[in-house]
Amino acid sequence: MGFRYAGREVPREVVLRDEVLRDVNLHVPSGGVLGVLGRSGSGKSTLLHLLAGVLPDGAGSVLLDAQPLSAAQRRGRGGFVPQKPGLLPWRTVLDNLLLPLELKGERTPAAEGHALNTLERFGLGGAAHRWPHQLSGGMAQRVAVLRATLHSPRLLLLDEPFSALDALTRREFQDWLAELHAELRPTTVLVTHDVREALTLCGQVVVLSGHPATVTLRRENIPGPHLNADLETELLRALRPEVVH
Ligand SMILES: Nc1ncnc2c1ncn2[C@@H]1O[C@H](COP(=O)(O)OP(=O)(O)OP(=O)(O)O)[C@@H](O)[C@H]1O
Ligand SMILES: [Mg+2]
Repeated sequence: MGFRYAGREVPREVVLRDEVLRDVNLHVPSGGVLGVLGRSGSGKSTLLHLLAGVLPDGAGSVLLDAQPLSAAQRRGRGGFVPQKPGLLPWRTVLDNLLLPLELKGERTPAAEGHALNTLERFGLGGAAHRWPHQLSGGMAQRVAVLRATLHSPRLLLLDEPFSALDALTRREFQDWLAELHAELRPTTVLVTHDVREALTLCGQVVVLSGHPATVTLRRENIPGPHLNADLETELLRALRPEVVH
């Protein structure tokens, strides 16, 4: 797939780089986790927004269960978690969780029960009736992930969900996410620029780089959370700043 931002107005002396992605071909096996690594500005969020149907279709297509879906059809099919949790401050955790269903007119007592069970099951039972400002950063991100999985249990799109957290909270959140994935097995695309995080959580990783960005490194069958020093070095090398001529 490829993607070009349309109608971007820039001063004439700025080099126009509106083509962000070119020839990016990815396949995530059902229930798998794909890590997308890339330096800042490489097009990771653009890719995720395309998958989520937030951006209009570029060149190429997106298939879900071998079915091509237009951007409009994709919107609402994937549970998207942005970099900041994006909880509405005037709604409790439970009400934030139920918002996507409410917007679809599907908030029922059964759905509320399911949301409460999910909070309980993933360690947030006590937070259901709290306000977002009463949550720690890590808790708020967990709520955002649960909201996405409730809304879309099969496809989870995570845009650097750990980036605003301190190192310890980050590790806890990673463990929590690994457990959630083991239980619910959503097909997941995780955007990150942390190599170790990708190696801990993902079964396969790709590195995006260049202008426009393409996949410059692709590794599958990543053995799991234990450290793979050679692969880590290889990925770090692929993420080195590009030489600008
Ligand atoms: N709405 C937009 N209109 C025009 N250009 C955009 C828009 N959003 C992003 N871009 C450009 O597209 C390129 C890729 O941006 P993107 O946000 O996808 O990068 P990223 O890899 O997610 O970066 P980061 O790691 O900093 O989040 C950048 O050059 C950016 O300036
Ligand atoms: Mg981004």
